[in-house]
Formats: sequence, C-alpha cells, structure tokens
Amino acid sequence: MSQKITIIKGDGIGPEIMDATLRVLDHLDLNFSYDYQQAGLAALDVTGELLPQDTLDAIEENKICLKGPLTTPVGKGFSSINVAMRRHFKLYANVRPVVTFEGTKARYSDIDILTIRENTEGAYLSDGQTINEDRTVAESKIVVTREASMNIVRYAFEIAEKAGRKKVTAVHKANIMKTTSGLFLEVAQEVAKEYPEIEFNTLIVDNTCMQLVMNPEQFDVIVTTNLFGDIISDLCAGLVGGLGMAPGANIGEKVAMFEAVHGSAPDITGKKIANPTALMLAAAMMIEHLGFVEKAHRIRNAIKATLIEKDRLTGDLGGSAHTAEFTDSVISRL
Ligand SMILES: NC(=O)c1ccc[n+]([C@@H]2O[C@H](COP(=O)([O-])OP(=O)(O)OC[C@H]3O[C@@H](n4cnc5c(N)ncnc54)[C@H](O)[C@@H]3O)[C@@H](O)[C@H]2O)c1
Repeated sequence: MSQKITIIKGDGIGPEIMDATLRVLDHLDLNFSYDYQQAGLAALDVTGELLPQDTLDAIEENKICLKGPLTTPVGKGFSSINVAMRRHFKLYANVRPVVTFEGTKARYSDIDILTIRENTEGAYLSDGQTINEDRTVAESKIVVTREASMNIVRYAFEIAEKAGRKKVTAVHKANIMKTTSGLFLEVAQEVAKEYPEIEFNTLIVDNTCMQLVMNPEQFDVIVTTNLFGDIISDLCAGLVGGLGMAPGANIGEKVAMFEAVHGSAPDITGKKIANPTALMLAAAMMIEHLGFVEKAHRIRNAIKATLIEKDRLTGDLGGSAHTAEFTDSVISRL
C-alpha cells in the first residue's frame, strides 16, 4: 500500500521549494501518494480560514506531513499557524540538525550539531499576551511543565543513544528565569542520571551563543526550551552556510511534520532563486523516519556532490542558477 503524505506548499517561496523537493522524491520510487492541503495565507485566500479543518483532518489521518514555510505577521495580526499545528498535534520535539557541507559558505568544516527544542510550551507560545491601552506595558505568560521538560530531555538522550552521539548539553537561563528555566534545568539534570554513558553538561543560553560562534566543535546534541531552541537553531544554521541548509522535524506521538527551518522569504518570493536544500533535507529526514534510510542517504549524498562540484548552485550558495536548475543538478546525482 502506498504511503499517503500530506503536502502543504505554504506561503512565499514555499510552493517553489516544495515543487523542487517533490521532483527529488519522485525520482526515488518511494510509492508515495500526495494529499495536497492548505494552511496559512494560501488557505485564507481560498477557504477564508488560516488553518482549515480539512487540513487538520488530513494530517491526523495520514500522520506524516511535509510542509513549506508559513508567514506570520510581525507585531500584530494572527498568531503563528506553525505554533497552532505543533500544539494541536502535540508535536513536542523539534529536531534541527546542522551539518557542514563542503563547498558552501560554512564558517567551520566539521559541524554536526543536533538541536532538540521543546515545541509545545514556554516563552515562544506567548500565551496570555496583553498590552494596555496606551501601549506602555505589555505582558505574556511563560509556562514550563515537568512533564514536557522530561519528555524533551528524554527524547534528546534517546536520540543521542540511537545515533551513537556522545554528549548532550542542556541550555537554560536558570540564573535569571529561576522558576521556568530553573525547572527545565532541574529536570534535565535528573534525566541525565539515567544515561551515564552519555556525557552531559549545562550551559547558560547567552554563553552558549558565544561558544557556538567561537568553538562549535564542543557541541553534539543541544536540548533546550522553545524560544532558546528557535534562536539557537538559526545560529547553528548560520554556522553551516545559512538558513537554506537547515531542515527540521516536528515529532509527536502520532504525527510527524517535516519542514525547512527558514521562513517564507518574502524578499525573494517569485524570483525562482530560492535554495530548496533545506526542504530537500527535511524530506530526507521524513523518509528516514518512514524507514527509507538508504534513500535518505541518496538525497543527502546527491546534495553533497552538487555542492562540492558547484554545479548550478543558487545565489545564496554563490551560484546564479534558478531553483529548478539546482534541482536538475541534484536529481542528476541521485
Ligand atoms: N516554519 C515556518 O514556517 C517559518 C519559520 C521561520 C519564519 N517564518 C515566517 O516567514 C516569514 C519571513 O521571515 P524572515 O524574513 O524572518 O525569515 P526567512 O527565513 O523567511 O528569511 C530570512 C532571510 O533568509 C533568506 N532565505 C530564507 N530561506 C531561503 C532559501 N530557501 N533560499 C535562499 N534564501 C533564503 C531570505 O531571503 C531572507 O533574506 C515571517 O512571516 C515568519 O514568521 C516561518
């Protein structure tokens, strides 16, 4: 029976990079069928809703979703549809690997860092956001729970163990945010004791950022709360040549959703110059999750070879090719 995958092309460059990624998947004889659904601004245009029930139902049924980026207005307007979906499907683990690819503008030659970000609570949700009438005082609430902290830290250690990784670093700000970040740190220290064979350390988030820029080789798996994970994973993407190179997975008990770390890139939308690598790498994570480990390696190796040979690269990678030409180049190496 063919595996049905919910496809959400998304906003901005989403449709451009999704079309490129599906072309790659189509060359791998995976016997997938695609269930196209809409979310975000594209859905609003067609259905009048940002997150239609049909989309939620399809994801629930198919259990696997490949998603393009969705636009969220800055400072005003609707709340993030990404956050709504992560919450709705309890996608508690946001997994963001970065690996150096030879031939890119990466700052270091041997980065291999996995950021595991708690995805369902914390400061990033901006629950209870209020601002007074004269816009002089704004508030929001941060909730961190023992259960979610335990789940995410355990997930990080389990994935480290499975992948043969050596070290987990819990990143926090418990010196200042003594209750919320303090609880996360306390739980991380407790869970770490269950995995004595894996090295464990803790670092304050501001120091982590400095260390990542100065001496990133010391990091292996980073586990942290929602907002810090959002920021740190973009920093990590910067270490390996930018957002165009960084994939992500949102994992829950029943549903998994795969996407690029980057956003809808309104500044280059429609120019056909977007780098589809991050979404292609997210698709590789997705098929690996589904058990197609060797085919996932084929995608990564084809991208690797394309970058090394600098064949038809997009502008952010130092070339001048269009998205479709870069995709032809990757497909020729599959
Ligand atoms: N998971 C998601 O859906 C997601 C993630 C981040 C941001 N967003 C949304 O995306 C919108 C734009 O956000 P932003 O501008 O801060 O970040 P962005 O990631 O869209 O863009 C940042 C910069 O990186 C470039 N860039 C991003 N992806 C690229 C690619 N594939 N190829 C080449 N260049 C690329 C852009 O052109 C831009 O200069 C916002 O509405 C934001 O909320 C969505």
